[in-house]
Amino acid sequence: MHGVCIFQINIENPVTMQSTESNQYYTEQQWHQWLDQLADNDFVYVDNFLPDDLYHQVQRYFKLLLNEQEFTKAGIGSSEKRQVKASVRGDFIYWLDQHQDEQLSPLFSLFDEVMYNLRQYLLLGLSDYEFHFALYPPQTRYEKHVVQFHGKKNRVISMLIYLNENWETGDGGELKIYQQNGKELLIEPLAKRLVLFKSDSVEHEVMVTNTGRKSLTGWLLRQPAALGQLV
Ligand code: OGA
Ligand code: MN
Repeated sequence: MHGVCIFQINIENPVTMQSTESNQYYTEQQWHQWLDQLADNDFVYVDNFLPDDLYHQVQRYFKLLLNEQEFTKAGIGSSEKRQVKASVRGDFIYWLDQHQDEQLSPLFSLFDEVMYNLRQYLLLGLSDYEFHFALYPPQTRYEKHVVQFHGKKNRVISMLIYLNENWETGDGGELKIYQQNGKELLIEPLAKRLVLFKSDSVEHEVMVTNTGRKSLTGWLLRQPAALGQLV
């Protein structure tokens, strides 16, 4: 007999998955809609993505780190040829660590949710992520670039969550995205706003900021961060 044989596999609750829909911040429909846009345009942004409680917790933690002078000048180039050129990139950063920064575990759960859904909907082979806080002092910027390190081919998706309460037109520090159609788009760094874009193809820059500009910046990786230098 001719015909198509369909095997049904129950993938609703696979035991190996770290995150299931039931404990997610957002619904399947929301993720579907956002990640469709990411697939179509190579970027997407979502307003009020960071829930209120988490936002306040993150802000408090950011301030604590600043008081304790945990931020360091961000570098450009590979780890061997590390150079700090404020004219190219003026931010100060603090790399997050799941163990060191365990107080932020709800934030790491949100990162897990982003990873889980990118795997589900875009079938991306992601296995890890890396995130840092960033602070751009007034009159700093980050020049147009694609990926931060030429050797870092494991960065698949770039992710930003902005932390600028009361940001206003004229404050600067917008993220400029160079779109496939040749048009440029300015994304305001509004508190709680999420931006996702494809790391290898989307040219972008941070416009000169006139106020202190805060963000959470990260990359979803193709392989564990510790193996990054092998590629
Ligand atoms: C970066 C970057 C964009 C932003 O840190 O590589 O592109 O809006 N940041 O902060
Ligand atoms: Mn970048």
